[in-house]
Amino acid sequence: MLKILFLGDIVGRPGRHGVAHFLKESLDTDTALVIANAENSAGGNGLTSKISLELKKSGCDLLTLGDHVWDQKNFQNEISTLENVCRPYNLPLENPGKKYLLHKIPQTDKTIAVATFLGRSFMKIQSDCPFKKFDLFYQEVVETADFLFVEMHAETTAEKIAFGWHVNGRASAVVGTHTHVQTADGEILDQGTAYLTDVGMCGPHRSVLGREVDPIIQRFQDGLPRKCPVADKDVRVSGCYIELDSMQKIALNIKPFQQKIDL
Ligand SMILES: [Fe+2]
Ligand SMILES: [Fe+2]
Repeated sequence: MLKILFLGDIVGRPGRHGVAHFLKESLDTDTALVIANAENSAGGNGLTSKISLELKKSGCDLLTLGDHVWDQKNFQNEISTLENVCRPYNLPLENPGKKYLLHKIPQTDKTIAVATFLGRSFMKIQSDCPFKKFDLFYQEVVETADFLFVEMHAETTAEKIAFGWHVNGRASAVVGTHTHVQTADGEILDQGTAYLTDVGMCGPHRSVLGREVDPIIQRFQDGLPRKCPVADKDVRVSGCYIELDSMQKIALNIKPFQQKIDL
């Protein structure tokens, strides 16, 4: 058995501090690899190389992104220099950065391929069909990777579930992100793929998806643009442990959790 941890969208400084605290104090000691979605880690919007280094120091081995991938204006120029960061696989070809990460899991002879796919329902960012692009990804890595970890970054439950069945038996795990709210449907699909519709966020829960409550309530009523700062109260770390069968490419167990962090 080989255990990996996946952490949901890290939101701003509270999210980063919560993750650092969690990885130092609470991480299961037999965890072989930590993967985290960092699309909201820079002030709620995107990632910078500086913050990717901070997260690496905190114990995040590999970082993924989502529709906020290019929110920080210089990140397009930085991403190619970052070894442990991949942009969503199904962005148009012209987008810089690694499409996926191929990583040797420390202290094992196993290799894991990690990729994020963007959904297209109610998503504003330009992207190619995630289903067809997953088929390409699978062909690219099936010979070299022992495990495929796939993230489905999407708004709708139906698109995520459909994608889960599409990769069933080919990916070791497929975990959803983007909604920032953890779902209660973690299971092993019938061909051995671990599935969870959404893992939730790492950030302040006295909030609306990580943002201060009052300006969001106002914005829903008057539609006017206004600053919606990242909130700071009730920080929780949301993630899931996935136990992989080291003899096969499948998963044995998926354990979602949400932990309150006292900073
Ligand atoms: Fe997102
Ligand atoms: Fe997000």
